[in-house]
Amino acid sequence: MQTKKYTMTVFGCQMNERDAETIRGFLDELGYEEIDDVTVADLVIMNTCAVREKAEAKVFGRIGRLGPLKKKRPEMMIAICGCMVQQEAVATQIKKTYPFVDLLFGTHNLAAFPELLQKAAQSKEPVLDLWSEAGEVVEGLPVTRTDGVKAWVNITYGCNNFCSYCIVPYVRGRERSRKPADILREASELAQRGYIEVTLLGQNVNSYGKDLEETVDFADLLARVDQETGVKRIRFMTSHPRDLTEKLAFTMAKGKNICEHLHLPVQAGSNRILNSMNRGYTREHYVDLVEMLRRYLPHCALTTDIIVGFPGETEDDFADTLALVDSVSYDAAFTFLYSQRSGTPAAKMPNQVVGEIKKERFQRLHTLQNKHSLRHNKALVGQTLEVLVEGPSKTDATVLTGRTRGSKTVNFTGENIATGTLVMVEITEARTWSLLGRTNLEKTNTDDEAI
Ligand code: 5AD
Ligand code: SF4
Repeated sequence: MQTKKYTMTVFGCQMNERDAETIRGFLDELGYEEIDDVTVADLVIMNTCAVREKAEAKVFGRIGRLGPLKKKRPEMMIAICGCMVQQEAVATQIKKTYPFVDLLFGTHNLAAFPELLQKAAQSKEPVLDLWSEAGEVVEGLPVTRTDGVKAWVNITYGCNNFCSYCIVPYVRGRERSRKPADILREASELAQRGYIEVTLLGQNVNSYGKDLEETVDFADLLARVDQETGVKRIRFMTSHPRDLTEKLAFTMAKGKNICEHLHLPVQAGSNRILNSMNRGYTREHYVDLVEMLRRYLPHCALTTDIIVGFPGETEDDFADTLALVDSVSYDAAFTFLYSQRSGTPAAKMPNQVVGEIKKERFQRLHTLQNKHSLRHNKALVGQTLEVLVEGPSKTDATVLTGRTRGSKTVNFTGENIATGTLVMVEITEARTWSLLGRTNLEKTNTDDEAI
């Protein structure tokens, strides 16, 4: 029998990427092979994102383009899953507009994927299966990781924060923590199988453990991953400022293999907007946290997320954001135009900011942040940093690319260096979003003092 073939497109965040690895695991067990070419695929899967309108529009466009293909090859199955589908109204709309889609399922019923696929294969009608509530955390689902060096490990699912702009709590459900023993086992197995870097994943890692019987917080978990698993590089994301503790900064500073990088989304610099976003902290509290962090870890890379043009954002509010970005001086910032998400409180707020103003503010923020990114990168020139080799650079195969512990991309020269190696690289030049360097073999393997 010929092997069945599938393609999968993944939109959005690392949670979605990690869910896709579980879907891949199931499909491996079912004997499918992943390919790129949708024109010969038996199954086409799209794991969707609902955080911003743009991502949703892309998915609608892509499903539309599958129509003629499905007409030509009716046996080809189309499955749409993920956060977009978890919104019932959107799922119904997809079903109505694109009746040729075979299967629609949300984020809560991932474990049921093989049964749903079978059901869809046998059904003449599209199968729409949405669970409104997430159940208990399901352990032991299969996983096929496509990267052999870096792995993502979920520690929590869902979110309880209900930031007023954000769709995530509605599509990913309430926060559920995995048990420490399950996380530690997974991380240890990954280290044994040769994975160098593990990123602990949650919408808000800092509230890890609050729902568990066992008394454990994120700092405890992080310390145990550091001490008990053998993972050489430990990262985590995302940290909500509301729940960031001094204990975490202390744990990071004391840790051996915990990377010196914190992603701490601020979202806005104005207290009025932060309040309206329901973020649960003030600008002053955020700045105190950054100062505290830098006391423990003076060289810690700091990155953030910022939304521009939240409803009611005035020029003064935006000036507060610019001033905050200037004073905190982030290594990098992920900046987003506010996107109205139906069903969230902010979507109904008055004084939505018009597109032109949003874009113009976005540009100003971008220019300011670039200045800081370059400044941080320039400060690294002349230093020798530990880099995890990710392989040849996409633009120049003679150059290798990798990341520092501070999560900076370094393109560097060196010979006979395998993907997955930790090498010491002397930084020779700084760009806004990357560093250039050359390997320092004298320091590789002999110098544990990495930055
Ligand atoms: N509009 C724009 N950006 C958003 N984010 C979340 N919801 C929205 C929205 N409605 C951003 C936040 C979050 C990041 C993952 O996406 O900055 O931290
Ligand atoms: Fe969305 Fe806020 Fe939860 Fe992050 S913390 S996922 S921004 S609701």
